[in-house]
Amino acid sequence: MMSGLAGPKDTIYLDADSHSSIYDGCTLSGAKLVRFRHNDATDLDKRLARSEGEEGGRLVVLEGIYSMLGDRAPLADFVEVKKKRGFQLLADEAHSFGVLGPHGRGLADEAGLEDEVDFVVGTFSKSVGAIGGFGAGDHPLFDTLRYAMRPYMFTASSSPASVATSIAAVRKLAREPERRARLQHNSERLFNGFKALGLETGCDVVSPVIAVKCPDEPSTIAMWNELLAAGVYVNIALPPGTPSKLCLLRCSVSAAHTDEEIDKIIELFGDVVAADQGKHAASG
Ligand SMILES: Cc1ncc(COP(=O)(O)O)c(C=O)c1O
Repeated sequence: MMSGLAGPKDTIYLDADSHSSIYDGCTLSGAKLVRFRHNDATDLDKRLARSEGEEGGRLVVLEGIYSMLGDRAPLADFVEVKKKRGFQLLADEAHSFGVLGPHGRGLADEAGLEDEVDFVVGTFSKSVGAIGGFGAGDHPLFDTLRYAMRPYMFTASSSPASVATSIAAVRKLAREPERRARLQHNSERLFNGFKALGLETGCDVVSPVIAVKCPDEPSTIAMWNELLAAGVYVNIALPPGTPSKLCLLRCSVSAAHTDEEIDKIIELFGDVVAADQGKHAASG
C-alpha cells in the first residue's frame, strides 16, 4: 500500500515504534522518511510544521495496537493534527482488527474516527487465524492502486482456500461480538494476574498483546525455554527487534483460551519469571 500511495517526491511520517513491514513499505516507495516520537502527536505536528510548503504529498502511518508493547495510538490527538496540517492517514490495524471497536474493525472503529482515516491495512494472520491481508480506503482512485503497487502486481493471488477461510472468519468476527468480549475477558484476566505477580508489562492498557519486560537477553531466553518446557508457548522478542532495546516475553491472548488455561499461564509465569525477577532484585 505504501509503495502505491507514496513516491520519491512524497514524505512518509512514521511512528518510531512502527512494525518492520511498515519500514520496508516505506523503503519500497522511495519516499522521504521522517520518524516521529512514539504516540506523540505534538512531535508529529512539529515535524510537519518544519516541512510546510515543501512539494509532494504527506502520508502519516500509525498502528492500531502496537505489536511489541500492546499500546495503542492516541488516534483523536493525531486526527486533530491532521485537521490542522492536512495529510493522508493510514492505519495498520494488524493487531486491532477483530479486537477493538463496536464492529471489531479496529482502533478507528473504537474511537468513532473511521471517516478520518484515509487508508486501512490489516492482516488475516492474527485475529482471522489465516494468511493474507487487506488494504481498504474510500478514495475515488483507490482501485488504481492495483496497478501501482509492485508487491501486489507481481505476486500470485491467494488460494481460494485461504480466501474462503478468511471470509468465513471475518463473518464470524462481525456476527459474533461475544468472541471479542471473551477475548477482552481473557486479556484482562492475564494482565491482572501478571500485575498481581508484580511483573512489569509493556503498557498499562489491556489488549491481547501482553508483553512482560525481562532483565536481559540470557535470562529471557532461559525463561522462554522453561515456559516452553512447562507447556506455555509465548513469543520471545529481543533487541534489535524491540523498542528501547527491551527484552520481552510477549503473550498473544486468544478468545479460545479457557480461564483454567489463563490461570495456569499466570501460575507458570509466577514460578519462572516472577521468581527470576526476585533473584535479580536480591542480587542487584
Ligand atoms: C503492525 C503489523 N503490520 C503488519 C504485520 C504483517 O503481518 P503478516 O505477517 O500477516 O504479513 C504485522 C505482523 O506481525 C504487524 O504486527
